[in-house]
Amino acid sequence: MDIRLLTEVEKQSIGERQPLPDRYLRLSDDEMDERLLAAKRTLGERLVILGHHYQRDEVIKFADFTGDSLKLARAAAARGAAEFIVFCGVHFMAESADILRAPHQKVLLPDLAAGCSMADMAAEDQLEVCWRELRALGVDVDRIVPVTYINSSAAIKAFVGEHGGVVCTSTNAAAVMSWAFERGERLLMLPDQHLGRNTGYRLGIPLDRMAVWDPHEIDGGLTAADAQNARLLLWKGHCSVHTRFTVQQIQAFRKKHPEGKVIAHPECTFDVVQAADLAGSTEFIIDTLRKSPAGSVWAVATEIHLVNRLMRELAPDRTIVTLDPFGCLCSTMFRVSPNHLLWVLDGLVEGTLHNQIIVPDETKRWAKLALDRMLEIR
Ligand code: 13P
Ligand code: SF4
Repeated sequence: MDIRLLTEVEKQSIGERQPLPDRYLRLSDDEMDERLLAAKRTLGERLVILGHHYQRDEVIKFADFTGDSLKLARAAAARGAAEFIVFCGVHFMAESADILRAPHQKVLLPDLAAGCSMADMAAEDQLEVCWRELRALGVDVDRIVPVTYINSSAAIKAFVGEHGGVVCTSTNAAAVMSWAFERGERLLMLPDQHLGRNTGYRLGIPLDRMAVWDPHEIDGGLTAADAQNARLLLWKGHCSVHTRFTVQQIQAFRKKHPEGKVIAHPECTFDVVQAADLAGSTEFIIDTLRKSPAGSVWAVATEIHLVNRLMRELAPDRTIVTLDPFGCLCSTMFRVSPNHLLWVLDGLVEGTLHNQIIVPDETKRWAKLALDRMLEIR
């Protein structure tokens, strides 16, 4: 495994990780719920809790808004009256909220260790090297539009914003990539090669006009001819949760349920998305299953907490199973526990900010441009 040191910008926005005090460790479920409700009541309108669909049940039940990355970014940008935005999700989501928030607001992430392994696969210095090496390979970088998945650091978003690029989420990737193709000759899509490949293919880019840029190889592992031929350059990053789903699992499901349908998140591999019946973001998955006819059977290729919740919500009218029989859990989303949430809320009641996310101003300026460009695309 590659190990890299954090840049100064990353260190600043990650902040100092404070350990959870012992007094928050041995609380019964009932006591936890009562105390969380009491803290929420005390903070009232001063607080808004945002929860991503992959959060555990014990946490998401306290969220004022739930959603996918796009919906939550819009909620953060809506600039409500709340003074504190507590983000039950992962680090890049809280950073995006801090970039989009109103001046009077503060963003907190209950556990600073709730990161995203995919976002960590693209560092700002690697992107600078990529840009330099592409130029040396004879690619006109001024005609590349960089598109970063929202699952990336604020520093990556800032680089992208400064170079005429834009952020996308899994909900709007096709619209955003079309926007980018109208403005440039080729796209660099990072950090998720799978979202990039799946969406690019949907937009009609043939696979032989895509090339994978490996940040750990000289010249990304490409020849000048490879780089110049590519309309879509795909950063070699992936989601360790969604790449666990396989075509064999789809075949096994179809054998058992010939009438069943498979719905996959576009962070899954190209083969899985091609073999599935439908692919889309978490919000798309929820919407599709809720609208599906009674009696239908679905295998879902996304994080297990969302699948379990849909299973319970829609039973017994529909049969919903996880495509991976063992279930795929995002261990960093899981780090946000009710205990951490309570500690952060108690801190706010007492006037102490635990785990505030602060993106440095210079980074924020360019990253906001890339996020604002995305929010304007419908
Ligand atoms: P969406 O919620 O945008 O579908 O993304 C899934 C994800 O992996 C978030 O990290
Ligand atoms: Fe990152 Fe994948 Fe977890 Fe989403 S599911 S937060 S992309 S590791």
